[in-house]
Amino acid sequence: MVSLKVFFFLLVYILALSHRFSPTEASRAFFVFGDSLVDNGNNNYLATTARADAPPYGIDYPSHRPTGRFSNGLNIPDIISENLGAESTLPYLSPELSGERLLVGANFASAGIGILNDTGIQFVNIIRISKQLQYFEQYQQRVSSLIGPDETQRLVNSALVLVTLGGNDFVNNYYLIPYSARSREFSLPDYVRYIISEYKKILARLYELGARRVMVTMTGPLGCVPAELALRSRNGDCAAELLRAADLFNPQLEQILRDLNDELGADVFIAANAFRMHMDFVSNPTAYGFVTSKIACCGQGPYNGVGFCTMASNLCPNRDIYAFWDAFHPSERANRIIVNQFMTGSTEYMYPMNLSTILAMDARTK
Ligand SMILES: *[C@@H]1O[C@H](CO)[C@@H](O)[C@H](O)[C@H]1NC(C)=O
Ligand SMILES: *[C@@H]1O[C@H](CO)[C@@H](O)[C@H](O)[C@H]1NC(C)=O
Repeated sequence: MVSLKVFFFLLVYILALSHRFSPTEASRAFFVFGDSLVDNGNNNYLATTARADAPPYGIDYPSHRPTGRFSNGLNIPDIISENLGAESTLPYLSPELSGERLLVGANFASAGIGILNDTGIQFVNIIRISKQLQYFEQYQQRVSSLIGPDETQRLVNSALVLVTLGGNDFVNNYYLIPYSARSREFSLPDYVRYIISEYKKILARLYELGARRVMVTMTGPLGCVPAELALRSRNGDCAAELLRAADLFNPQLEQILRDLNDELGADVFIAANAFRMHMDFVSNPTAYGFVTSKIACCGQGPYNGVGFCTMASNLCPNRDIYAFWDAFHPSERANRIIVNQFMTGSTEYMYPMNLSTILAMDARTK
């Protein structure tokens, strides 16, 4: 019976060891690149007008204070972190992002930016995507001096990455003003082909920098946000021209993700169909517990879609029953519906697989 005792002791010991050393989901780093839909507060540190650092932003955040997130509470990356069992990633420019906290990952996103460098120029000082990628390199150097180059590479290779780009290349560039420079230069189909080819380079660079699990969001129904309803819609229908833009952009984006995966021989890039995720509650808000998907909770003018959300704006008492928090950005509850689809959606929402499948798969291969 001694040998059995020893056996059990060893078994318990091995289980304890494997538990201690197998990377738990909490230790999986998370990196975020993109625009205001995913910015956790980088723009607070910049001299720009694209910011969400004043009330009532953050009214439903745990601290009830503005953080720079374009939400009444949590945003999409926060809720993904929650699902990973991790704390939210800090903005890369935050002075708190140092030491051990670097190992959680980082958020490089900056409100107002797009695929193109001239997108969002009216916001002056924002972190364009090429700069976000440079910061990612700098981040890796900083982590390397903490845990060494091999462990750093392992951390980056096993990390989850989220990229959200493209919406601003329409609303804050091509369609920003009538006869914008880009709209005089390109027909819409040619413009989409151009930004898609630039996007492919950005994603390829991300792979070069070590990213191996990259969720890329399609653009949402841009024509249906309160700002565009206020600007372009007579009867409350989604603005047709912007829907056409999304219609051209999304299938081509999905195609380059497939092409990249084929070239790399692995499912590195995952298409998150944000158009469908949004359209579900935009077209049938009551089915999702919203009283409206047209009127923003915070704002003024038609659909509360004109200008910024400030202390002087109309503010709805219950943010959970509004699909849109401000003229462009979903409420926390809408963000939760979106992230639920990230986690468990069918291939029509997450292609080729959802996040719970990724997490289960990667846990097996470790
Ligand atoms: C944007 O600017 C960066 C840095 O100057 C440059 O490397 C990149 O090629 C530019 N992108 C485009 C699409 O012009
Ligand atoms: C997504 O997640 C659910 C639940 O975790 C799973 O049953 C389903 O098969 C997954 N779908 C895909 C396409 O990965």
